[in-house]
Amino acid sequence: MSHENAARPATARRSSGLSGTVRMPGDKSISHRSFMFGGLASGQTRITGLLEGEDVLRTGEAMKAMGAVITKSGDEWIIDGVGNGCLLQPEAPLDFGNAGTGSRLTMGLVGTYEMETTFIGDASLSKRPMGRVLDPLREMGVQVVSAASGDRMPITLRGPNQAAPIRYRVPMASAQVKSAVLLAGLNTPGVTTVIEPVMTRDHTEKMLKGFGANLEVETDADGVRHIRIQGQTPLKGQVIAVPGDPSSAGFPLVAALIVPGSDVTIENVLMNPTRTGLVTTLIEMGGSIELVNQRTAGGEDVADLRVRSSELRGVVVPAERAPSMIDEYPVLAVAASFAEGRTLMQGLEELRVKESDRLAAVAAGLKANGVECDEGEASLAVRGVPGGKGLGGGTVATHLDHRIAMSFLVMGLASQQPVSVDDATMIATSFPEFMDLMTGLGAEIG
Ligand code: S3P
Repeated sequence: MSHENAARPATARRSSGLSGTVRMPGDKSISHRSFMFGGLASGQTRITGLLEGEDVLRTGEAMKAMGAVITKSGDEWIIDGVGNGCLLQPEAPLDFGNAGTGSRLTMGLVGTYEMETTFIGDASLSKRPMGRVLDPLREMGVQVVSAASGDRMPITLRGPNQAAPIRYRVPMASAQVKSAVLLAGLNTPGVTTVIEPVMTRDHTEKMLKGFGANLEVETDADGVRHIRIQGQTPLKGQVIAVPGDPSSAGFPLVAALIVPGSDVTIENVLMNPTRTGLVTTLIEMGGSIELVNQRTAGGEDVADLRVRSSELRGVVVPAERAPSMIDEYPVLAVAASFAEGRTLMQGLEELRVKESDRLAAVAAGLKANGVECDEGEASLAVRGVPGGKGLGGGTVATHLDHRIAMSFLVMGLASQQPVSVDDATMIATSFPEFMDLMTGLGAEIG
């Protein structure tokens, strides 16, 4: 895969007003789950709008290795699934490349099977903590046959003869951990309960219900969600239209806000409330973002966003908002670099364990480009320079992190001096169309 190939640097230069209409590629979270649940359910699943990024394609390969038949006809992906409980032992290690979501959810999906499955990934994924998924799986009876130190990949799991249902309170705000336990519950007799004190993206719950799982969600008086899933029930193939990825939309969105004279429409953006924190924050900062053509598609809220360049001002982004914009902090930090005054982002502890230590990577990238910022243990304060005068001129270390690469390329479109990134190849993990889409709007990136 390209992100394992030689690094390919890229540079973005100050651009004149961006304009045009772009359509967002499919949401990464929903695309992963579409392949997984389609591969597991019996009968046929047909998917349109799937994100054909490297991460998602790895998930498809993993499902194929466990018995699903996946083909593509025109724009449609067609999956003949194996049936709940009927995954086959893969003959070789499952290689998830850069993908935390693919690997962690699949550990839940197959960990309870009485077979050996080995998980491997690239240098970034091999550094990421997997104990957060392995701990609940161990409670369900899954044996961690081998793991690198600190519960890291390569990891080999072996399920018990029959897994035990658990009640699990998710200790950090993580949709991946929640989902892994629910997916393990699919192959476990009885009721598995996940207690989620802080709500995270709810695609697993919504989609599993759509596939016919016996799943219910109750929110108690304290706002804590109790998600119960009855295991070993049949799942049935579905027709899915994947809405556009709001996390990817963040890049043209912030670019249009900070490049003077821009007027851009971003079509087909998922507006699930667990994913809209960036839009909320940018509107609070004074961003001109108009939601047009608001609609529901496949059970999800979707809208087109008309974005015009704006004079932004710094805000305090509350910690409670972090789960709904967790992947968007790097690009928000770029927006904050062009805002009047100071932006304070709080509750960022999970950024330390993403594709890179994103908090450190963002702070280093900002400093390399002349932006004043303070990196706390779980916070980031950025002092903006409206107009971008004196900003840019640096090269950013991306640490195999697609969102660091795209965020700083967006910065270079509005800063006085160009901004370079040391590698852009891994952008293909989540947003292969990024360069073409941005240059189509008039961005000078190359
Ligand atoms: C995801 C959950 C989030 C997010 C990731 C996708 C998902 O990770 O950062 O990009 O699809 O469930 P965490 O669960 O680690 O917060």
